[in-house]
Amino acid sequence: MELRLLALGGTPAPGSSTGKVLDWTARFAASLGARVDQFDADFLAQLPLYQTPAATGHSAAQRFVDCARQADGVLIASPGWHGSVSGSVKNALDYLEETARDERPYLDGRPVGLIATAYGWQAAVTTLNAMRTIVHALRGWPTPLGVAINCSQPLFAGGEIADPALAAQLKHLCRQVIDFAALARSRQPLAEEPK
Ligand SMILES: Cc1cc2nc3c(=O)[nH]c(=O)nc-3n(C[C@H](O)[C@H](O)[C@H](O)COP(=O)(O)O)c2cc1C
Repeated sequence: MELRLLALGGTPAPGSSTGKVLDWTARFAASLGARVDQFDADFLAQLPLYQTPAATGHSAAQRFVDCARQADGVLIASPGWHGSVSGSVKNALDYLEETARDERPYLDGRPVGLIATAYGWQAAVTTLNAMRTIVHALRGWPTPLGVAINCSQPLFAGGEIADPALAAQLKHLCRQVIDFAALARSRQPLAEEPK
């Protein structure tokens, strides 16, 4: 059975570099055989603030939560806005509260590959750390590699990532998510819990 990945992120800025990096990474994950359900910045922008009246029964939000429930792994790309995760990315993640009473709540047991962009290293790194903290709270497993990107210079040349080292990091991130997801799928409990 194919592995399913949930991918979300980007910014509403025209030509968002965060969105382009997420697209590139999601395409690479798909080339490895994963099915990727991607939610871009335009999608995130239409989600009402979580817990407001408009959020109740919101069909796009329900589709997002449904994909999260079915995901074997996750990719998240956030800009560093004032040193942390953007509101629209966080708001989407807040909707995972809908899964709190599921048998497998939040991102429980799922690997999560994290990408943070900013116009400087400081915000890229603090944002990556904030994302790790959020994923821990959601019971997910941030992959050992997270990718912090200083996007003060153009990242792409002719549709491709210009820096081979960055491309290699993003590919490695995908492999870590997919390998862990496959491992988690095949996992057998080591021991029965005592009665
Ligand atoms: C509201 C806002 C706050 C930002 N705060 C920071 C910041 O604290 N540090 C930083 O390096 N860049 C900051 N930036 C720049 C963004 O990190 C940068 O625009 C983003 O990573 C590039 O993504 P994009 O091309 O996908 O929009 C900020 C940008 C905006 C719009």
